[in-house]
Amino acid sequence: MEKTFLMIKPDGVQRGLIGRLVQRFEDKGFQLIGSKLMVITKEQAETHYAEHKEKPFFGELVQFITSGPVFAMVWQGDNVIALSRAMIGKTNPLDAAPGTIRGDYAVHTGNNIIHGSDSPESAEREIANFFKPEELLAYDRPL
Ligand code: CMP
Repeated sequence: MEKTFLMIKPDGVQRGLIGRLVQRFEDKGFQLIGSKLMVITKEQAETHYAEHKEKPFFGELVQFITSGPVFAMVWQGDNVIALSRAMIGKTNPLDAAPGTIRGDYAVHTGNNIIHGSDSPESAEREIANFFKPEELLAYDRPL
């Protein structure tokens, strides 16, 4: 079963959106197999955003993602990586369609509510950065 890493960023947590966002992924038909509210370390943030290391906004990105609690999640389901990215919407909220999470809740690119893995390789790497294998649970009745 395909797995992805989704993370409600500090702006989404502060705004009280955890419940509404989790609901969207449950409604779609995915299963939550791991989650935790946590403040991520600078090292975890730098690993998570390693591909953006040379970008001018890297420092700001690490500062923001470590600025308060995030809600880290692992979800499973068929095509969960591509489908959850479609539900999240484009990175820049100006391009994010209404009905997507960023289209409905975000105004700025930096504070864009939620992260979702963009490939199976990223998902594997990102899950390992935030969860121990024993923190991911099995369901009696998988999808
Ligand atoms: P995400 O897609 O989760 O991962 C990379 C993040 O970099 C992206 O969300 C944005 O939050 C952030 N980002 C991308 N472009 C910019 C930018 N121009 N300025 C600030 N942050 C950005």
